[in-house]
Amino acid sequence: MIDQNNIREQFPILNQKVNGYNLIYFDNGATSQKPISVIERISDYYKHSNSNIHRGVHSLSRHATDLFEKSRHTIASYFNINNPQQFIFTGGTTDSINMVAQGLAKNYFKPGDEIILSTYEHHSNILPWQLWAQENGGKLKIIPLNNDQTLDYNSLPNLITKKTKLIAVTHVSNTLGLISDIEKIKTEATKHNIPVLVDGAQSAPHMAIDLKKLDVDFFVCSAHKMYGPTGIGLLYLSEKWLNHLALSKTGGGIIKSVSFEKTEYVEGALKFEPGTPHIAGAVAFGEAINFINRISIEKIFEIENELVQYAQEKLNELPEIMMYGKNTHKAGVISFNVKNQHPFDVGTLLDKYGIAVRTGHHCTQPLMQHLNIQGTVRISFAVYNTKNEIDFFIEKLKKVITMLS
Ligand SMILES: Cc1ncc(COP(=O)(O)O)c(C=O)c1O
Repeated sequence: MIDQNNIREQFPILNQKVNGYNLIYFDNGATSQKPISVIERISDYYKHSNSNIHRGVHSLSRHATDLFEKSRHTIASYFNINNPQQFIFTGGTTDSINMVAQGLAKNYFKPGDEIILSTYEHHSNILPWQLWAQENGGKLKIIPLNNDQTLDYNSLPNLITKKTKLIAVTHVSNTLGLISDIEKIKTEATKHNIPVLVDGAQSAPHMAIDLKKLDVDFFVCSAHKMYGPTGIGLLYLSEKWLNHLALSKTGGGIIKSVSFEKTEYVEGALKFEPGTPHIAGAVAFGEAINFINRISIEKIFEIENELVQYAQEKLNELPEIMMYGKNTHKAGVISFNVKNQHPFDVGTLLDKYGIAVRTGHHCTQPLMQHLNIQGTVRISFAVYNTKNEIDFFIEKLKKVITMLS
């Protein structure tokens, strides 16, 4: 049995009042809160282990290097990958996608090529491809939505042409919480030998990800949405791309030899990690994975799924509420609007009761255009949220509706 109080006690930030009320943090899709083990890992690192890594012969440097590489192993094993060298530490999802886009631009994309995205995409998984397309006469093609706001996978065969060079899709919509069927996308992609990039920013925090099974070319996510620190994330590359993805950044620490005429690079993940990395962040990312493992990601999914179903039921009882992406196959996120009210007003009034929700377009403006709305109110859960919090939120939401009407 999971003791919810025990989980909550591990998050010092939850133990505070906001505007005179106990903080209810429903903005986990933007960033999750951090358990004390992760916070202390960062401070312990700087207190006892801080040194630059990989190039030092002294004990402290070797110790810091061990911690950094051990973290890579912990994360690799969590995502079920045998070769930790396939995990590149990056600044996060946005950084990872840009690295792939810039790398593919150098030796893979040809002018006029096409990239398939979905209507769900976060701007971070649109803009790097759009920039390349604008500069190279390329084209973005978009998987449309069905009436229930799930992806229309049947459209894929019509979208794919001889010029299609990549399919880049989000695993879970950060606005609707709906889970994409990567298997269906892969089936079509494999027929035409098209690589697939999965944006796991919103799936990795909520559901078990087995990268051996998922078997895509690129997978990216951010530690800060998974109980870890900001400024660190990962880029997983399949064996093929580990050897073929062109470098988009270079610098110290990634070479075998350099002369003014030529450079020989190291192999594996290090090649993609020039300069001094976010060492404390990488170590704390590993600690965040330890936190998840102590509960188990399957259990986290179960707890959050119950919260999603419960909150959806309660919201559905309110006639003033319009829900988006009502499907049951969801992970952690609910979007809604109060009829005839601006989401910003709803969010601002909920904040007066200490309830943190996100309002606006959630960096998915094309999805907003499709839904023909300006924005939504989004509540997104983590393992420390409770049904009591949802009850309080619903009670206050009713008050907000009355105030606004
Ligand atoms: C689906 C999705 N992709 C990409 C990102 C960008 O992540 P980051 O800001 O950590 O780079 C987010 C952040 O909310 C997201 O939800």
